[in-house]
Amino acid sequence: MPSPSQRPTTKAVIPVAGMGTRFLPATKAVPKELLPVVDRPALQYIVEEAARAGLPEVLMVTGRNKAAIEDFFDRAPELEAALEKKGDQSRLDAVHAATDVAQVHFVRQGEARGLGHAVLQAAAFVGDEAFAVLLGDDIIDARDHLLEEMLAVQAEHGGAVVALLDVGRENISKYGAVAVHGEGSTVRVTGLVEKPPADEAPSSLAIIGRYVLPPEVFAALRVTEPGAGGEIQLTDALVRLVQDGVPVHGVVFSGRRYDTGDRLDYLKAVIQLAVEREDLGPALRPWLQQFVADLPAQGASPA
Ligand code: G1P
Repeated sequence: MPSPSQRPTTKAVIPVAGMGTRFLPATKAVPKELLPVVDRPALQYIVEEAARAGLPEVLMVTGRNKAAIEDFFDRAPELEAALEKKGDQSRLDAVHAATDVAQVHFVRQGEARGLGHAVLQAAAFVGDEAFAVLLGDDIIDARDHLLEEMLAVQAEHGGAVVALLDVGRENISKYGAVAVHGEGSTVRVTGLVEKPPADEAPSSLAIIGRYVLPPEVFAALRVTEPGAGGEIQLTDALVRLVQDGVPVHGVVFSGRRYDTGDRLDYLKAVIQLAVEREDLGPALRPWLQQFVADLPAQGASPA
């Protein structure tokens, strides 16, 4: 009988309780996770990524004003009947894709006390197994296999695995920063700091929003005091795991990542993903090239 840590990971946790203040006023009525990236909510990309990596059981940790997320992952019988009547199979398939891709469960966070607190709400769902955490702001290109790689590293070494990206010193204060031992695409994490000032960061390697965590993280989270921003930080619970001798590894990502976390990055993500799409790319590319060619040089007044 395999020990708990050897059981294949099947569960993913996606925290979606954030207020989305950077996208106000849109997020007054629409959760930021449902803002369309081309024609799919950002969150659908994340659920599809989890399913592709072999994690069909997904728990969303929601909060107030997030009911639309539950509706999105529910069947829509009236809409489906209307599309069926029209014989619109491709749109029907698109509607089904949201509900068929994974088994989605929900738990409410109650109070917004930080990412660590959100992850703690998944304890009963996860039980005694390793599990993945996917944050919604980062979309990883479907052609890259970051999560699969992280799951393989976790299966080999046990403990926790985080996704890392070199974001440069100038950006590190927006992230969890790590100290690492070793080189190459898999490194050992020896220290972590949540959102350090640039001159105090242990490196320019940042945690991007993918984690594979052992169930021991819940015990660590229960005793983690509020940290950066007055919130219970997942990064601080990982510090505790390192101190307890639990292996924490980092997989350094070198693929395509689309950040949808703020307005400028969101705009870039929509354009990048649309250009790649078979149905939209061929028409968008020449238009975009012309549009850029016609842009007045910076500072010049329009003709
Ligand atoms: C969270 C984590 C941080 C991580 C980041 C990745 O911060 O606390 O360690 O680097 O996600 O996106 P947030 O972006 O929620 O402030």
